[in-house]
Amino acid sequence: METQNQNGNGHQTNGQSSQEDQTLTTRQGHPISNNQSVRTVGSRGPTTLENYQFIEKITHFDRERIPERVVHARGAGAHGYFEAYGTAGDEPVSKYTRAKLFQQKGKKTPVFVRFSSVIHGGHSPETLRDPRGFAVKFYTEDGNWDLVGNNLKVFFIRDAMKFPDLVHAFKPDPVTNRQDGERIFDFISNTPEAMHMITFLFSPWGIPANYRQMQGSGVNTYKWVNEAGEGVLVKYHWEPKQGIKNLTQEQAEQIQGKNFNHATQDLYDAIERGDFPEWELFVQIMSDDDHPELDFDPLDDTKLWPTDQFPFLPVGRMVLDKNPVNYFAEVEQAAFGTGVLVDGLDFSDDKMLQGRTLSYSDTQRYRVGPNYLQLPINAPKKRVATNQRDGQMTFMVDAAPGQNPHVNYEPSSLGGLKESQKVGPDHTPYVAGNLVRQKLERTNDFKQAGERYRLHEDWERDDLINNLVSTLKPAHKIVQDKMIELFTKCDEDYGRRVAEGLRQGNSEQPVLAETQAEGVRQATEDSQEAQP
Ligand code: HEM
Repeated sequence: METQNQNGNGHQTNGQSSQEDQTLTTRQGHPISNNQSVRTVGSRGPTTLENYQFIEKITHFDRERIPERVVHARGAGAHGYFEAYGTAGDEPVSKYTRAKLFQQKGKKTPVFVRFSSVIHGGHSPETLRDPRGFAVKFYTEDGNWDLVGNNLKVFFIRDAMKFPDLVHAFKPDPVTNRQDGERIFDFISNTPEAMHMITFLFSPWGIPANYRQMQGSGVNTYKWVNEAGEGVLVKYHWEPKQGIKNLTQEQAEQIQGKNFNHATQDLYDAIERGDFPEWELFVQIMSDDDHPELDFDPLDDTKLWPTDQFPFLPVGRMVLDKNPVNYFAEVEQAAFGTGVLVDGLDFSDDKMLQGRTLSYSDTQRYRVGPNYLQLPINAPKKRVATNQRDGQMTFMVDAAPGQNPHVNYEPSSLGGLKESQKVGPDHTPYVAGNLVRQKLERTNDFKQAGERYRLHEDWERDDLINNLVSTLKPAHKIVQDKMIELFTKCDEDYGRRVAEGLRQGNSEQPVLAETQAEGVRQATEDSQEAQP
């Protein structure tokens, strides 16, 4: 009977010929007859330098860790498939995109998904207030497509230039090595576009109960391109069949006291018992222009597209039905990126998306190595034929069958690789303008944040206010006042409740409290005037 090996594929590796042979060897294939003792002069030592077997073992161990992801370090993954509906709502999907994976009803494409939390390290608790990553790799017949999303549908900032500052403010303080609400809100109070995201993040939506019961979203605006080369703007949304469940701060703390791996465990256990989680994929579509009739810019990822004008169109479903067999090889070394698109999918001019597209493969060349795409989890499940050669850890030549092995360049008349046939007309939007460093014109930072505040259920709003007050309480008054001003611009009640919460907290320090109360009153009055 064939047994499964570490790769889960039933094949023997490293030249072991017999399936019964369980002999421990070195990576050079040498059998190891003593794995208990280093080689020494007499039983008490000293050890010898030519102790090759020990040196190989310990030096490999010394290199077991690769750099963590700079963000999204804590994660869990699973394999599964995507099944297309062939339609986008009532229309054939081909009206909008020629991407092959969507075309035929019932067509299945294998996927690998990695869920994650963003700020803290690889073994941090999974109960922390943080956006959750929702990254999907589709192994399509045209090569890989990565949809690198989050659970929340909007983001803190709309310009990639600000990403390192955002992350620094949320990461632990460089001196104390502790996450610090004052630093977070010092940055946020000077970044008004973050208010929509903050109104989600400090509510129970900032702590999803687990990975199975959360939504996913591409957040940024992409494009779909059809057979005629025409493009539309598109946003992606994953909706869980398991329903959505979020936690209050108190509920999260109770779980964290007992288990800080609860989300990884929940996903793994559900798949092991055959309770396969499922999500439906929806798109929102908008014509490809700047839509002056809207009070926001379609390329602004701090905004939701109203569903009454841009309805959710179902295009397929995804099922996760297989756990990884090697966490490190499959989950830790998985590399997703926003640049990884297939024919029929394209970039929009969303500045965040364009900034992200450089960042992912750049960090992966450093984090995993320049040949990260040769690893099985990252390689497409189709033939790859490039003229790229060599580099650290390369182990194969990705040539085409029959390719002249001497020709690793193009063009050539001597049997090298050739360009492919064109699939369809290129999408060729016309772009003209002055090179500038400017914000989008329609910032409208507070309207949707206020709507979100009012849309929260009572228990969500109460939790939001409690979490904001407790995080802001130790912060400097300048930061508190600026935040109250921003909350008030979103919704008067929002600002009032945070201000009251802070005033109550500060009444234990009478002198400060009086000054602060005045500052709060002043800030609230100012911001009411400034409301649109
Ligand atoms: C991971 C950069 C915004 C979702 C990462 C990583 C980097 C990065 C460097 C680590 C990748 C790795 O080591 O493999 C950026 C930059 C952004 C940005 C520069 C803005 C300019 C976003 C946004 C989202 C997002 C808006 C949500 C749509 C993710 C996810 C991961 C990730 C899900 C983890 C992928 C995985 O599981 O391996 N990001 N990011 N990022 N980012 Fe972003």
